[in-house]
Amino acid sequence: MTAFPIALVRQQFPALADSAAFLDNPAGTQVPRQVIEAVSSALAGAASNLGGAFEASRRADAIYDAAHDAMADLLGAASGREIVIGQSMSMLTFQISRSLGRGWQPGDEVIVTRMDHEGNVSPWLRLAEERGLTVRWLPFNRETWRIEPEDLKPLLNERTRLLALNYASNLTGSINDVAALTALAKAAGALVYVDAVQFAPHGLVDVGALGCDFLVCSAYKFFGPHLGVLWGREAILADLYPYAVRCAPQELPGRHEIGTPQTELFAGLVAAADYLAWLGAETGSGGTRRQRIAGAYAAATAYEMPLAQDLIDGLRAIPGLKVQGITNSNRLHQRVPTVSVVHPDHSNKALAKALGGQGINVWSGHNYALEVARHLGLDEAEGVLRIGLAHYNTAGEVERIVGALKGLMK
Ligand SMILES: Cc1ncc(COP(=O)(O)O)c(C=O)c1O
Repeated sequence: MTAFPIALVRQQFPALADSAAFLDNPAGTQVPRQVIEAVSSALAGAASNLGGAFEASRRADAIYDAAHDAMADLLGAASGREIVIGQSMSMLTFQISRSLGRGWQPGDEVIVTRMDHEGNVSPWLRLAEERGLTVRWLPFNRETWRIEPEDLKPLLNERTRLLALNYASNLTGSINDVAALTALAKAAGALVYVDAVQFAPHGLVDVGALGCDFLVCSAYKFFGPHLGVLWGREAILADLYPYAVRCAPQELPGRHEIGTPQTELFAGLVAAADYLAWLGAETGSGGTRRQRIAGAYAAATAYEMPLAQDLIDGLRAIPGLKVQGITNSNRLHQRVPTVSVVHPDHSNKALAKALGGQGINVWSGHNYALEVARHLGLDEAEGVLRIGLAHYNTAGEVERIVGALKGLMK
């Protein structure tokens, strides 16, 4: 494989010209020039509603179709008809949970996990409250940091309607074996709704291989604009009750998209997929856009994970600092490069503020992984100090944060 072109990659992101170290990537990534230009040129040339008999509207139509096709390529969907684009993952999940729940009866069951972000917990809890559903809680294993099939099995029964499952944790960074967990839930007759928000910035999603029914992600975490993207099986989406206005299109895609689309951001979505395809080509991959995207993820992972290991080792060498997640180098493939730490004598909020003062961007708190914080027995308000790498970060930035933390903890 070609050496990772880090300097060229960084040149694509105008924000990285700043002296700040962007280690806040699990909360949102920076955006390459081509995404910025696509949004801006859509605003200049396609700021029209869809379906009109004039050129600007035809351009908007083309962007709309291209965005669905691009996300189909990104996620391995059969076609753009399986893609629903909306404001955010949380918004899409609230919406689709309403549609799904209409057919469920009191006493039906949903499984939510102690590993998920609230975006894949609260919508199901609210739905359960309203419809009298039973909620079953699936823990993650505090030793392996993952959800184990053994813990899922006893929760499944003939009343299980849905498993809401995390692909990668936004706090611990662990990656679940989604295919294995999905197979168990499907065998029990349940639907599976996967939150891939934290996986999609780092790994190739393949909805076909996972076997799930729905999968959601957020473009602003994979170098795109602020939009949520949902993949669903065409047969399910085509039948599912849409919470949309009466005269909205009933066909896919669009059936579950509420209101006028944010065309300029859709243009940015296409550009985000094309950026990844560009990265794939730069790192030696050819073929279809999907194949180049796959190549980009492989190259990014090969670059990111040794940095993540250096970060983990550097943090662990600081007395008292504890990593809340997988640290073993043999298990690096079971995590994304999001590393959270706690120290008994230091406030995470104060540390994040001090680091911010030094131009090092990180987050503290539970980061909406409320159940993770609780399951680990952490102080909810304090949570963790979360450092998250993306493929544009450098060894120098890893050294910088480790050095800064050493200084702050002296
Ligand atoms: C794992 C995970 N799921 C869901 C969300 C929510 O995504 P959105 O902001 O698009 O609603 C986040 C945001 O941080 C997340 O990390």
